[in-house]
Amino acid sequence: MIDLALADLKFPPPRGVLRELVREISMVNFYPSGDYLELKRAFCDYLRPKVSLAIENVVFGNGLDEVIDLVTRVWGGVNLIPMPTFSQYSAAAARSNQKVISSGMLQQGKYELDFDEADLKRASLVWICNPNNPTGDLIPRRKIEQAIDSAKGMVAVDECYYEYTGKTVVDLVKDYDNLIVLRSFSKNFGIAGLRLGVAISSRENIMKIEKIRQPFNVNRFAEKAGVIVLRHADEYKKIWQRVLKIGKKFAAEVKKMGYRPFPVNANFVLVDFLDERKASEAYLKLKNSGIKTYPGWSEEDFEGDLNQHIRFAVGAESDMELAVKILKG
Ligand SMILES: Cc1ncc(COP(=O)(O)O)c(C=O)c1O
Repeated sequence: MIDLALADLKFPPPRGVLRELVREISMVNFYPSGDYLELKRAFCDYLRPKVSLAIENVVFGNGLDEVIDLVTRVWGGVNLIPMPTFSQYSAAAARSNQKVISSGMLQQGKYELDFDEADLKRASLVWICNPNNPTGDLIPRRKIEQAIDSAKGMVAVDECYYEYTGKTVVDLVKDYDNLIVLRSFSKNFGIAGLRLGVAISSRENIMKIEKIRQPFNVNRFAEKAGVIVLRHADEYKKIWQRVLKIGKKFAAEVKKMGYRPFPVNANFVLVDFLDERKASEAYLKLKNSGIKTYPGWSEEDFEGDLNQHIRFAVGAESDMELAVKILKG
């Protein structure tokens, strides 16, 4: 099977990264550092062109999934979640028996952040995914600022796919105490299998997460890999550009067939097949030809009303060409 369901990076990290990482194998008898100081310093340096922060402004987790869980445990209670979006915000709320207010954001095929003011006042935690998974839409900075200004509680901006567009509000953590920005190393630096995510916020907010996280929540390989991939960030730029180019070409082909692709701002493309029957036929045709995709009607990865949509992860050129051929056929 060709897996275009999970949106991990379909290209391996640069060889230099793997070579350096292999050296760490002889150290596995030792615990990770636990304070993650080297990784924190490297990440603050990486953030520097956008914002100058201290190591006390960042905390790492076992993948961004763990960070989402920690943020939910600290600030959740009443979670305001725009739909459709990444499923782990409400899954984390459910794991802690918390309340979710869903807010429908898909109007006439466009994902618009437009919270109800009363909901923003009621929520203890507001989630914004930018670019949004699975729609791919970029949320205008002005809209995020409006939400932070109006929210009574914490606003978590998930920038899991940041590297593909470079659009961020991380600089705003200096201005707002109720903002926490989240990043992952999975989809961009291609170390999904090692699990590494990070939260960026005020010292006081980060301290609240530090207090409840496990002492060695990030494993030794992930800790080392984080430092290595940041050192090689320039080499990854070519991979990010290649992924966007493949994704946009696929979207253009799908559009020519009369379907409606969503914007390509990450390593996935959501396609609206315009009716449920066509979507389910396309899904089965792909599956029977050996290509796995995410149907919008499954709630495993994302939630919301997407019954005529399929999300395609961006794979190698030949995989996407095959998908187009099958859809046409
Ligand atoms: C928006 C978003 N946030 C967080 C995650 C989780 O990332 P990680 O692999 O670092 O746990 C994903 C993964 O699909 C995602 O799409």
